[in-house]
Amino acid sequence: MDKQKLIMLPGPTNVSERVMQAMLKPVINHRGDSFRELYKEVLEKTRQLFQTQGDVVVLSSSGTGGVEAAVWNLIRPGDTAVVPVFGEFSKRLAETVEMAGGEVVQVASEFGTAPTLEQLKAAMDKVGSFKAMFLVHNETSTGVAVPYLEEATKAAREHGAFAVIDAISSLGGYAIPVDRWGVDVCITGSQKCIAAPPGLALLSVSSRVSELLKGSPPKTRYFEILRYLEYGMKGETPFTPALPLYYALDEALEELIEEGLEKRVQRHDRMSTLIYDGLAGLGLGAVAEKSVRSKTVIASYYPKGIDDAKFRRSLSQEKGVVVAGGFGPFAGRVFRVGCMGQINEGYVKTTLGAVRDTLAALSS
Ligand SMILES: Cc1ncc(COP(=O)(O)O)c(C=O)c1O
Repeated sequence: MDKQKLIMLPGPTNVSERVMQAMLKPVINHRGDSFRELYKEVLEKTRQLFQTQGDVVVLSSSGTGGVEAAVWNLIRPGDTAVVPVFGEFSKRLAETVEMAGGEVVQVASEFGTAPTLEQLKAAMDKVGSFKAMFLVHNETSTGVAVPYLEEATKAAREHGAFAVIDAISSLGGYAIPVDRWGVDVCITGSQKCIAAPPGLALLSVSSRVSELLKGSPPKTRYFEILRYLEYGMKGETPFTPALPLYYALDEALEELIEEGLEKRVQRHDRMSTLIYDGLAGLGLGAVAEKSVRSKTVIASYYPKGIDDAKFRRSLSQEKGVVVAGGFGPFAGRVFRVGCMGQINEGYVKTTLGAVRDTLAALSS
């Protein structure tokens, strides 16, 4: 069996012993009282995470399932959607909208930056009327976070459109008060800032979305949101839930609530600053421009001459620290460090020390 390493990936991330242990609870009937109690708890805690009084759904799927659910429930063939594209995940999101028959108006920017709010608004104005805006909050592929979620949501709504936010790698490290900001669907994943194991997608769903769905069922059974809302009212999921993961999510959300969302967000703030400063101290530059750099994913260029595969292998095998490589145009040139969930001074110190020593060993 693999020895537990320090998982500094941009998800999955380190999971506490308490959350791991929760998965050992007994298998129960998912149509029985115990599960109903558990699921109602999970939904209530999920509402606290999204800061909503409205509906939420927990899917037994990774984050991509949450994205597919949002797209297939909202988009019908011929619908227009505005999609900022500035990295791998926003590119995939645009492709998913096209797969559902949507016409995508891309607002593109160089990877490492994000389209400005003005560019996004100008694109919306040019299109006039459209069905939805699909916005990735935190581009995990480049370590870029857009700083204007609230304003973009407002702009989309002014055009009569739904505002959908992929906050898979950010919610919990950032606060996104969906009711206050008017977000229609916000999506996150269990394995990132919530610090549960991978395998669950969490979504907030506005009443505008459920109203739409009542008159227009989507072409998906597994991801049909209305079905989850109807079953959710009686504390059940329409299909067999990934039970151990629900136990884990319940415990991880309990940890989050014990800490308090605000404090958790501040901790992510502080720890990401330590990582950025520490890497800069080693002479390493971030991919993201400072104004849009992410607090939960730090993408950093390698110094000249460092081999990506050798660096990450040595970091993992010699130091027990696991980081991710670069994506697409950044493959081989960049490594990415997750600053999520359980992140603390000790993890940061260990990671920075390991990066320093490994770079030194590979440079000599
Ligand atoms: C912004 C974003 N969207 C979507 C996904 C896909 O999530 P998953 O790998 O859980 O399916 C990820 C995963 O890293 C992500 O970071």
